[in-house]
Amino acid sequence: MKLLLTNIKELLQIRDSNILKVSGADMAHLPALKNAWLLMEDAIISDFGPMDSVPTITDATTIDCTGKMVLPTWCDSHTHLVYAGNREQEFVDRIKGLTYQEIAEKGGGILNSAKKLQETSEEDLYAQSAKRLEEVMALGTGAIEIKSGYGLTTEAELKMLRVAKQLAENYPVAIKTTFLGAHAVPSAYKNDKDAYLDLVCEEMIPKVAEEGLAEYVDIFCEEGYFSVADTDRVLTAGTKYGLIPKIHVNQFQAIGGVAEGVKHQALSVDHLEVITEADIEALTGSETMPVALPSCSYFLGIPYTPGREILNAGLPLALATDYNPGSTPSGNMNFVVATACIKMKLTPEEAINAATMNGAYAMGLSHSHGSITRGKSASVIITKEIPSYGYLPYAFGSNLIDSVIINGTYL
Ligand code: NIG
Ligand code: FE
Repeated sequence: MKLLLTNIKELLQIRDSNILKVSGADMAHLPALKNAWLLMEDAIISDFGPMDSVPTITDATTIDCTGKMVLPTWCDSHTHLVYAGNREQEFVDRIKGLTYQEIAEKGGGILNSAKKLQETSEEDLYAQSAKRLEEVMALGTGAIEIKSGYGLTTEAELKMLRVAKQLAENYPVAIKTTFLGAHAVPSAYKNDKDAYLDLVCEEMIPKVAEEGLAEYVDIFCEEGYFSVADTDRVLTAGTKYGLIPKIHVNQFQAIGGVAEGVKHQALSVDHLEVITEADIEALTGSETMPVALPSCSYFLGIPYTPGREILNAGLPLALATDYNPGSTPSGNMNFVVATACIKMKLTPEEAINAATMNGAYAMGLSHSHGSITRGKSASVIITKEIPSYGYLPYAFGSNLIDSVIINGTYL
């Protein structure tokens, strides 16, 4: 199956195969080719170039992209897309004045979602999650990470991960799975967090690893959830079973979790709405990707990750949705890119680099996703006719996607 895109107004994010992430000042540059063609064969990008060298390929399906931009599909490295039901009532409670933390203290929040998920059958959970996945694919997401963490029992955590694995089998989108058993202390262990951590480390992690259900291990390192010492314990146990750390950290308080993540060679440290000098220092020189989740800040009305400071320190930055029922009921990466520009003051070039190349890195996929590179997955967004790529975040409320091709499948 050959797919030839011609007369592309601008082909964005062209990279050599040895570029796996973009950092600091380099993020201001988005390599592009004007008036271009792109050839995809058997789900792989095989070649591209300027229109004056367009090849004649008789057995290819040709798509004329006059006036349209083509870019790699979004790489959403942080989601909780497999969940049951919704938390609309808590949304209304917050409008009326309760904070996210106050709702959690009343037994709402993550525990509310866990209760719903435990009562939902695997089939129903799959059906609800597949609908969300189809929606985000149509919005241009071609690679996505999905976490557990709304099960909080061995059985329910495994159920979540099996659903995510089943999605990976049935859809062309690349899916990476993360075990987040330490997302909150379940009610049954309310007064004995350590006993719950015993369960996470001694039963859940070995089972997840044995059944090959996740590649990553995560923990919510935060005041009122899990401490830095708990983080050390869970990441050590995960690593022992071959799971690579990726953590939730610095959402509300900076308690030293960033340095702990770096110490454990975390692939990414996510949230970072609050960040200290010491956190920046810990990240400097490491291979850990800082990940910002601006839709979460938008929805909860909390500070935005200081992306500018992170880039000024020469560090890379990735952007992801955090799609989940409590803090971010949206998996729209277009909104994330726009919000990063509008609220975090990233330029369109920086935001697009963060949402493609660096997002791919943050889920261990930058060898195959995140850029227009010969040999990478044929996963691209074709925009509607737009004046420039800066128009994507500028016209933040419009759907500017004409079509999406994911791993060679034209949606
Ligand atoms: O990444 N912060 C921790 N976990 C999720 C939200 C959990 C929830 O409220 O359901 C997050 O924002
Ligand atoms: Fe999250």
